[in-house]
Amino acid sequence: MSMKALPLRYFKEINNWDTVIFIYNAALKEIGTKIDILNDEFQHRHRYNPIEHVKSRLKKPESIVKKLKDHGYDTTIENMVRYVNDIAGIRITCSFTSDIYRIAEMLASQSDLKVISVKDYIQNPKESGYRSYHMIVTVPIFLSDSVIDTKVEIQIRTVAQDFWATLEHKINYKFEGNAPEYIKKELQECAEMVWHLDGRMLRLNEAISEIVESESEDV
Ligand code: GTP
Ligand code: MG
Repeated sequence: MSMKALPLRYFKEINNWDTVIFIYNAALKEIGTKIDILNDEFQHRHRYNPIEHVKSRLKKPESIVKKLKDHGYDTTIENMVRYVNDIAGIRITCSFTSDIYRIAEMLASQSDLKVISVKDYIQNPKESGYRSYHMIVTVPIFLSDSVIDTKVEIQIRTVAQDFWATLEHKINYKFEGNAPEYIKKELQECAEMVWHLDGRMLRLNEAISEIVESESEDV
């Protein structure tokens, strides 16, 4: 008989920190493997890797505590599991914006994954200029006597968007979120350049693909 998946907040060992961290870590492994398999299949079928790299991380305990405090919640494990959606995080970097939507769609359509929320900061960039595609999903973790649906934040972005976001993050960290106006403006302009660059690179890649296809039809 199959077991019904339980959200992590109803898990009987919810008050054991090590157990909770172990489950989030398992969730990272499950999603990481799904991404690997999709990339391998693409390579196998199309001789093409949509994914440049994948990075996963667990949020540091002090960052979890800070986030709960910032939102006015008591620092309990129950609150953390309920309100902090990015304890397990995976970042997928790809070459082209078209790859982002392809990967997001392939993940979202997997029957064991539930998409909890989507934020498309590619179509709707943040004020800062930030662009990326975010999904919160749950993945079932199969334990010996229960199945636990566990949240993972997936961020998907292009290499160029990642370059921008990494520098912007570093600057914001340095200025503790209060960067001088001229730096913010410069970053917004760079974000626009990244957007145009990604568009041009995509069109170039499509043009190359068309040539390659028409050549293979000739033979
Ligand atoms: P957080 O409380 O920061 O997690 O934001 P949120 O819960 O409103 O979620 P959102 O989807 O807006 O952002 C989640 C994550 O996206 C952040 O933790 C960052 O990793 C990344 N992010 C969001 N906005 C920016 C930005 O302006 N610059 C950079 N560099 N990263 C961002
Ligand atoms: Mg976050």
